[in-house]
Amino acid sequence: MVRVLFVCLGNICRSPTAEGVFRKLVAEQGLAGYIEVDSAGTHAYHIGTPPDLRAQAAARQRGVDLSGLRGRQAMSRDVEHFDYVLAMDRENYENLLAICPEGFEHKVRLFMEYAPHRPEREVPDPYFGGTSGFDRVLDMIEEAALGLLADIRRSKEI
Ligand code: 4NP
Repeated sequence: MVRVLFVCLGNICRSPTAEGVFRKLVAEQGLAGYIEVDSAGTHAYHIGTPPDLRAQAAARQRGVDLSGLRGRQAMSRDVEHFDYVLAMDRENYENLLAICPEGFEHKVRLFMEYAPHRPEREVPDPYFGGTSGFDRVLDMIEEAALGLLADIRRSKEI
């Protein structure tokens, strides 16, 4: 089993979008039984909350259903449990390192490292912007999700 956790600030926009997109990709490639996918936020603002309606609408347009997801906060033991702990931006990355048990730092990465052909290394927070921000987030996430799954398949030989 390979375990992947996507992490943003609130767990209502970027990381649930990444979870939904990646989960769909994993299922399409017949790997649902091999890869565990989850998401969390570094802050506690939105525990128990469904994804932002704008994120849900943008994802639905691309065939990704986020309606069943609920916000939760990332914890130290997440960094132990998951093999890939993927931060949407550098602030999330630093927050994760702050709760990371010693010796697990190598698991924490910026998600956009898996989209090396794009110039951005961070997925911008769409929360305070307009709806186009959610489409841009999806474009970035779809590309990094493909790169991540290819990397996992290569390194784990699945
Ligand atoms: P996310 O977006 O980190 O992509 O889920 C945000 C959601 C909520 C807030 C900030 C960012 N907030 O300040 O409540």
